[in-house]
Amino acid sequence: MICIDGPAGAGKGVVASYLAGRLGWRHLDSGALYRAVALALLRGGLADADESRIKAYLRKCRFEFNAAADGNQVLLDGVDLSAEIRTESVGAAASRIASLAAVRRFLLVRQRQFRRMPGLVAEGRDMASVVFPDAPLRIYLHASPEKRAARRHKQLKQKGINANINDLIRDLAERDRRDRDRPLAPLKRVRQAEVLDTTALTVPETREAVWRLVTAVWPGIAAG
Ligand code: DC
Repeated sequence: MICIDGPAGAGKGVVASYLAGRLGWRHLDSGALYRAVALALLRGGLADADESRIKAYLRKCRFEFNAAADGNQVLLDGVDLSAEIRTESVGAAASRIASLAAVRRFLLVRQRQFRRMPGLVAEGRDMASVVFPDAPLRIYLHASPEKRAARRHKQLKQKGINANINDLIRDLAERDRRDRDRPLAPLKRVRQAEVLDTTALTVPETREAVWRLVTAVWPGIAAG
């Protein structure tokens, strides 16, 4: 079990899918689950509703969260939302609804269900601090805000989504603040985490660095 936490754009997705692929383990992109709940609430006109209404609504929604080779597939009432949840507006809504206890509780068990043999690589904000506190390897990734915004910009462009870099820097800063300052399961580095600053690292360098961390914990580990 490996946890990867950090702010948006720090490289969690790249690292988690690389490790999951190399080890033959499952991959949990917990952000995708928060995004799916946010999209469902936006569609139901409930993104700003009070918590009891949100709780009741979520009970009626039929979510399916599946492990897929390239992250997680999310379905709502049988419809695949995996592409739609990737917009910045859904990301911002996810960050807002993620502060609600009803939402975090709803997703907690569902996240833990991803943990199966032979192993799980879980990425998010509170993987090590709340969801899988007993993970033998906990990695905290971070990078400068400018670098993270530039990566997000590139990612969105590849998906054909237009975005302005200055808007992205501003939105990321706001999201960081919300994710760090919320009282429930805030983004934080646990004491035991291995910290990796990816600002100046290329993707291959980042992969190499995290693989070194993996082999330090499991010396004889073989690729899956
Ligand atoms: O990783 P992401 O950008 O897809 O996540 C979207 C939002 O979901 C993020 O801003 C905060 C919330 N989130 C969370 O609160 N806890 C997690 N473990 C993962 C995401």
